[in-house]
Amino acid sequence: MTKIIQLFVVAILALGCSSNQQSKIQTTPCSSLETPETEAKIEALLAQMTLKEKAGQMLNIGLPALLAGNYWAPRDSAVFDTARFQKLIVDFAVGSIHNTPSFPATKKEWYRIIKTIQDSAMTKNRLKIPVIYGIDNIHGANYVNGSVMFPHQIAIAATWNSQLANKVGEITSYESRAASLVWNFNPNADVAMNPLWGRIAESFGEDPYLISEMTNAYIKGSQQKGLQDAASTAVCIKHFIGYGAGKNGKDRANALLPENSLRQYFLPPFENAIRNGAMGVMISSNAVNGIPCHINKYYITDILKGEMGFKGVIISDFSDIDFLVGAHLSAKDKREATKMAINAGLDLIMNPLDADIVEFIVDLVEKGEIPMSRIDDAVSRILRLKFYLNLFEVPYTNPENYTEFASQSHVDANYKTASEAITLLKNKNNILPLSSAPKVLITGYSANSMNILNGAWSRSFLGRDTTYNDPKKLTILDAIKKQMGANNVEFVEGTNYLEDINTDIAVAKAKKADYIIVCVGEIPATEKPSDINELELPKAQQDLIKKLANTKKPIVLVMVQGRPRIIKDIEPLVDAIVMAYLPGDEGGRAVSDVLFGNINPSGKLPYTYPKYSGNLLNYYHKKTDIRDVDWGYNGFYSQFEFGFGLSYTSFEYSNLVMSTESLKSAEELQISVDVKNTGTREGKEIVQLYIQDLIATVSPDSKKLVRFDKISLQQGETKTVSFTISANDLAYIGMDNKWITEDGEFEIQLGGNPKEMLKKVFYYQEK
Ligand code: BGC
Repeated sequence: MTKIIQLFVVAILALGCSSNQQSKIQTTPCSSLETPETEAKIEALLAQMTLKEKAGQMLNIGLPALLAGNYWAPRDSAVFDTARFQKLIVDFAVGSIHNTPSFPATKKEWYRIIKTIQDSAMTKNRLKIPVIYGIDNIHGANYVNGSVMFPHQIAIAATWNSQLANKVGEITSYESRAASLVWNFNPNADVAMNPLWGRIAESFGEDPYLISEMTNAYIKGSQQKGLQDAASTAVCIKHFIGYGAGKNGKDRANALLPENSLRQYFLPPFENAIRNGAMGVMISSNAVNGIPCHINKYYITDILKGEMGFKGVIISDFSDIDFLVGAHLSAKDKREATKMAINAGLDLIMNPLDADIVEFIVDLVEKGEIPMSRIDDAVSRILRLKFYLNLFEVPYTNPENYTEFASQSHVDANYKTASEAITLLKNKNNILPLSSAPKVLITGYSANSMNILNGAWSRSFLGRDTTYNDPKKLTILDAIKKQMGANNVEFVEGTNYLEDINTDIAVAKAKKADYIIVCVGEIPATEKPSDINELELPKAQQDLIKKLANTKKPIVLVMVQGRPRIIKDIEPLVDAIVMAYLPGDEGGRAVSDVLFGNINPSGKLPYTYPKYSGNLLNYYHKKTDIRDVDWGYNGFYSQFEFGFGLSYTSFEYSNLVMSTESLKSAEELQISVDVKNTGTREGKEIVQLYIQDLIATVSPDSKKLVRFDKISLQQGETKTVSFTISANDLAYIGMDNKWITEDGEFEIQLGGNPKEMLKKVFYYQEK
């Protein structure tokens, strides 16, 4: 290829990757930016590098290791320790850095920190290779002080609006880049199968298709102008794999995943994300079938790099080389663990505290225990990402240029996302919206807290520190006072997370109120601190509702939580239930606007809300899972089903039409349905299409989501919604662990709520 043709190809590929101005998400893989030019640059650099320099590239160190004071010390300023800085940035020339200084720096402070690092790396190091900085900006640029803090991923999934996921990705990238942070350890593509898992809030829920759609939209938003653009960040999808399926629901617990489940449910979101341009994958700290993911060569090298053709960087999770030794008990020491992980295919090691990893790598290669080809593969990938991000030319960006940081339009997008996520789960006698409530009692753990609305990863790791809350943001209580006038609102805390504070006072005040709004919730937490031993909403919070119910006043329950906490005893005592998830900085406003009807709720559950702790099933279970003691098959006792959510208006579905009743492998099936707004106000509806394989050799799932669309309808308006499916949508993992579409009958289920689906059967035959 001549140089001119090469450049032309590069330009076309770059355009394909960046032309996502329209609302529809495109699928051109950004990895196609892999150009002969970049590859030649990588080779040239590699050829000059010593083994120690290569090993240095493979280390991702924690920022506090460069700073004065103890690694874990709380700080309010980032002062570099000269000796540590010299050792890590100059002598070891580390390839990558992660973490915060322990306080959320402003964009200007981040600029100073990253500029200092890059200026040294790019002048004092022999090869002048820039560092790549990774961060957990997982709901907005949450580690940049003053940024917009969006709802957590579970709420974004509940919007079922991929354009919003796209927007969140775009704004998060912009506000991260305003702080010179170029690589985001997000989005989370985990399939949250176990409702006990503490990081459900950080995931897109339990359905692989919804997760894939949302992950892709987020990636497109983050990288839409191309990775070289100063408003894009590279994503790092995580956690590969099975983190959300730990057998006991605890953080980093062993998951038992047979090959067919792995391939059917867990791999597709990652596969799609890689096809859509993800250039980073973080390995999960847990073990699958007892094998720690970090040493699973089959997963990392054969599947990720082989089958999926992944060309980007595979990074370990936090301190996972130590975890292989001290927690998994799979390696006798850190040197052996390093060898196992790198030989399994790991490229970049998140080793927060020191550079010992570099010395192990050098020694292991010198002694022939890790082949140099493996090191070259790892370093090439790291350099490739740095080239794609244009870090050699633009290692940091001037924060002053990011004039839209935390702008009104970003705040509006945040509010819109929170509003569209909120899911109305119960509305007895249409008690909501509350139009004319003269006196309201607000009580409960989450009623008056910004931290609970924002959850973990909010300026601080656990999100419990109130120091950095924006005083202009409204809690649920603040927003309701603003709506109703402070004189009409009584507030009593009632309980904290686990204990009664003053429920008696709450009950006394309730007697004088016209309505009671009880806001329950989970304590902000992630990882180990998010583990629980029972899924029930904490007893003290349930007791508050039981006591209030004795007053016979109408009760509206607002839930601010990541996980579906069991509420079967209190559900009958309340008149309305509003699920807010973890709705972020604009969540208080959005909740109030839903309660008072300024917003018509349009979210639907992205997970199954269980009723009993002994019946924790996903919606895509097997028929034998729901076999009842009376020998029937009705034993799927969810409190609320996946895909369920009410509106203040009503929708009617009719005229389900299929283009054919007998589909062949090379053909497509067009399906359409009319949706009418039969209520009294404008509303948004999520039209969901499921397919049930009626007979399959491997016992079929109850159903699977294959398409969805969110539409807006004026009062009385009808729209025809159409979907196209093909044989691929009918496929499942067969007896030989490969995708297969078997001949036979399939049922289409189409509608807006799981219990009211229109159904039709068609026949599929390969030839
Ligand atoms: C978490 C990851 C996170 C990493 C870096 C880990 O403990 O599991 O999700 O990206 O820390 O902060």
